[in-house]
Amino acid sequence: MKLHEFPRHQLTFGPSPVHHLRRLSQHLGGAQVWAKREDVSSGLAYGGNKVRKMEYIVPDILESGADTIVSIGGFQSNHTRQVAAVAAHLGLQAKLVQETWVPWDDPMNDKVGNILLSRMMGADVQLDDSGFDIGIRDSWKRALQEVEDAGGKPYAIPAGASEHPLGGLGFANWAFEVAQQEEELGVFFDTVVVCTVTGSTHAGMIAGFAALEELTGVRRRVIGIDASATIEKTRDQVWRIARNTAELIELGRELRDDEITVLEGWAGELYGIPVESTMEAMALGAELEAMITDPVYEGKSLAGLIDLVQGGDIPSSSNVLYAHLGGQQAVNAYHRLWN
Ligand SMILES: Cc1ncc(COP(=O)(O)O)c(C=O)c1O
Repeated sequence: MKLHEFPRHQLTFGPSPVHHLRRLSQHLGGAQVWAKREDVSSGLAYGGNKVRKMEYIVPDILESGADTIVSIGGFQSNHTRQVAAVAAHLGLQAKLVQETWVPWDDPMNDKVGNILLSRMMGADVQLDDSGFDIGIRDSWKRALQEVEDAGGKPYAIPAGASEHPLGGLGFANWAFEVAQQEEELGVFFDTVVVCTVTGSTHAGMIAGFAALEELTGVRRRVIGIDASATIEKTRDQVWRIARNTAELIELGRELRDDEITVLEGWAGELYGIPVESTMEAMALGAELEAMITDPVYEGKSLAGLIDLVQGGDIPSSSNVLYAHLGGQQAVNAYHRLWN
């Protein structure tokens, strides 16, 4: 099927806003930086990138007749908060396994921010002491079994909705949305910068921009900035999901190697732990643009963008689009970084 033929259940207000970051661009003294804001594109518990992914998964959930969505993430997972939001919106239950993905020693880590919102939305939140891994987890399989044992009908959504067969479609469509907005704004984004961890946001974009290239002949760079600190796993996952999504939307050719770029250098040693460049990027975004980013994801991808622009890897003639994927709710658990 072609992308526009897949059923989509709208959860966003419409296209996410795109705006020029004038003060940040001026400060960096190179390419013009714009942002496309997944963090303000839905009314469902502050939205974010998973809401967009789930627009293409909800029709399958509804068709399955499931009564409980089961998913997994860290204590401060944005993904599980968005699953809880979509479940509430649909009148379904959410069962969320929240693992100890980040060695962030704060007594509020499993109480405030994302996890608080999930509890407010009525999700059944289960804490688990397993560490970080973007793969399929036993704890999640057990949670699925528990729903069945209790006579329920579970619907499984893996971490970040990435390993779900339809997980790449939301951001494949994002590429077409960008093309539409470029026309309206009279600007062309030759470079896109996006944070990548479980992979389907970046992978979906790769497939979508490849499909767009088939129609228009126009190429652009889609640069993924790793925030997992387990680069090989993330790179594998991006490759696999990009290929699967390209096949699903009938791209009609293999993806080229130069279409898949995941850069390392800004994740630090550990997923979820900010480093100096993360703190500097978060400060620049906040102080120059009132654009709030988090220490787990967007602060790291913003740090990558800043270095690529300042170092000239993204030339000063470029218009670069920073995909802001949400995640601000986690800052509550990181309050001591600003004390
Ligand atoms: C705010 C935010 N940015 C970036 C990402 C990375 O997206 P993905 O897991 O699709 O690679 C996530 C989720 O993992 C996220 O919540």
